[in-house]
Amino acid sequence: MTRLLVLDSGVGGLTVLSEIRRARPDAEILYLADDAFFPYGGLAEEALVARVVALVEESLRDFPADGVVVACNTASTLVLAPLRARLGIPIVGTVPAVKPAAAASQTKRFSVLATPGTVRRDYTLALIAEHAAGCAVTLVGAPRLAAYAEAELMGAPVPDADLLAEIAPSFVEADGTRTDAVVLACTHYPLLVARFERIAPWLVAWLDPAPAIARRVTNLFGESAADAPPAPAAIRFTSGRTPAPPLAEALAARGLTLARP
Ligand code: DGL
Repeated sequence: MTRLLVLDSGVGGLTVLSEIRRARPDAEILYLADDAFFPYGGLAEEALVARVVALVEESLRDFPADGVVVACNTASTLVLAPLRARLGIPIVGTVPAVKPAAAASQTKRFSVLATPGTVRRDYTLALIAEHAAGCAVTLVGAPRLAAYAEAELMGAPVPDADLLAEIAPSFVEADGTRTDAVVLACTHYPLLVARFERIAPWLVAWLDPAPAIARRVTNLFGESAADAPPAPAAIRFTSGRTPAPPLAEALAARGLTLARP
């Protein structure tokens, strides 16, 4: 039986978890929602590394997983190397879909919509330098969007105008070209993509890295056997909170039970 530890600062990584569950329903999963430290996008670099390394090491003691999926772009920009150096199991990170965006964009103008932390990091800038030469790339660090995605899943959606204020800088018209693709470089944002599509100033492709992460998982751990029974998946909120009804229903709909810290 394959066991995977999946983590994010909150419920954003559930967008990744859904794809992993689709690909490997037989893998036992513990999903860590590190809501005690939400949002990661506002944490200083050393604080974020120290927190994630300590949380993963502690969680592996009672859930000895075969691999860890960091279902968070903000954490992945910093913690993959320290985790790999300390743990002898595969660590899968979340990489903004810059390469697919450069390939998909017809206008060669696309945007990377992420947390303020992710857009500042060398990791992101290096990806753009490596994969998006010849493209005009706009980096947008959205200060409140991850919190808005959390609110959406908790049954308290924010008004369209607030969402639009966060995504509007991604839409650029210059030198006769328009943005035609937006990289969702925070795992929380796909939770809002249906609303983004409705309020966007014009049509763009929204790129979600979750399917690529699930492919990476099956590359590392193999496909599920046809006769393998489905395995349980649980979610643990590091704050110890019990989710209120709208969120509890969303978690149950994803087949997740609650695990206590
Ligand atoms: N879901 C996280 C990401 O992919 C970020 C949310 C946060 O700022 O905590 O970047």
